[in-house]
Amino acid sequence: MSTTLNIRRPFARARGARRVSGERADIGERRSARDRARRESAASDGRHTPVLASELLHALAPARGGARPGSVAIDCTFGDGGHARLVAERLGTSGTLIAIDRDPHAETRARELESEVACSVRFIRSGYAEALALLAEEGIEADAAYFDLGMSSAQLDARERGFSYSYDAPLDMRMDPGLPLSARDIVAEWDERRLAHALREYGEERHASAIAREIVRRRARAPIATTLELVDAIAAAIPAPARFAGGHPAKRSFQALRIAVNDELAQLDRALPLAWSLLRRDGVLAAISFHSLEDRRVKRFLADRARGCICPPELPVCACGKEPEAELLGRRALAPTTDEVERNPRAASARLRAAQKLVPAGGAAR
Ligand SMILES: C[S@@+](CC[C@H](N)C(=O)[O-])C[C@H]1O[C@@H](n2cnc3c(N)ncnc32)[C@H](O)[C@@H]1O
Repeated sequence: MSTTLNIRRPFARARGARRVSGERADIGERRSARDRARRESAASDGRHTPVLASELLHALAPARGGARPGSVAIDCTFGDGGHARLVAERLGTSGTLIAIDRDPHAETRARELESEVACSVRFIRSGYAEALALLAEEGIEADAAYFDLGMSSAQLDARERGFSYSYDAPLDMRMDPGLPLSARDIVAEWDERRLAHALREYGEERHASAIAREIVRRRARAPIATTLELVDAIAAAIPAPARFAGGHPAKRSFQALRIAVNDELAQLDRALPLAWSLLRRDGVLAAISFHSLEDRRVKRFLADRARGCICPPELPVCACGKEPEAELLGRRALAPTTDEVERNPRAASARLRAAQKLVPAGGAAR
């Protein structure tokens, strides 16, 4: 845990508020709608375009609970603060946004956001699994917790960080530059079997064995130190007809390395139950995933919570007594509209799932 930034700005909005009447009230309303639109588009202009933003806000605001004035919301993947800014605006002066990210750039963004919103903002720079465990120890109770998984546009676009197969840069891919293992270390040190396993498991790469073999062959001659050296090795290992069949030939291997470097799936497996445990009754957990490895985990986690009796079907009466502790907000994952994908092609694979916490009959509310 490197930094905790705890900022309180009580009544910042309330001080500027004034009663107006008649036409002036209309003008005021029009102005505030225009300001709101400007702020919402500032969240998407020039910086990062938050994906499925209106769908996430809708999921976080069911009839009761969720992100509303006075509530506590946890943004587990703050990034550029695109979603956080929109959520913070719904929390009012008495609400609290707890923002988590392991990337130091996110901390700078959190400081900027602090001056733009009325609610309290607390930033924790850490892996979200560790940060949520800390919040649980502190006894924090939340009304909303959400994840926007994977890397941010800022990380992808910062060439020198080595996340992208489109630019030549040192192989790195660490979201937190303090993490012990970089993509270069993995490519240099893991044996062929382990490399192939990671490429297959985390990238769902059909040519994992051939790519691992090629990496090992090349690194015996000279270290693979940059993104384009790795792209070259991957492309050479994939049979020519398959090379561009499913998008860029290095896409799946880069995803696999990024997941391995940042231990993304283990973080998610630890974080989901922690985030759920922090929610009050009627609180909402939501997650935006970008590939099936993440989405499957979120789907299974929420479905398990929404399931009641788990007795074998042959039992005539329930013996387990298990009650559902979640209500799924929608049976299926939400996907972006074609309009959103046209505006922001990076949103194409995004899927949103959410559930609201119920208190099982006889169970205790937090
Ligand atoms: C897709 S971006 C989030 C973008 C953000 N919702 C926005 O609108 O600007 C994902 C962010 O989560 C962070 N992240 C990913 N895995 C993490 C983890 N295990 N712990 C903490 N932060 C993580 C990344 O550093 C990145 O900044």
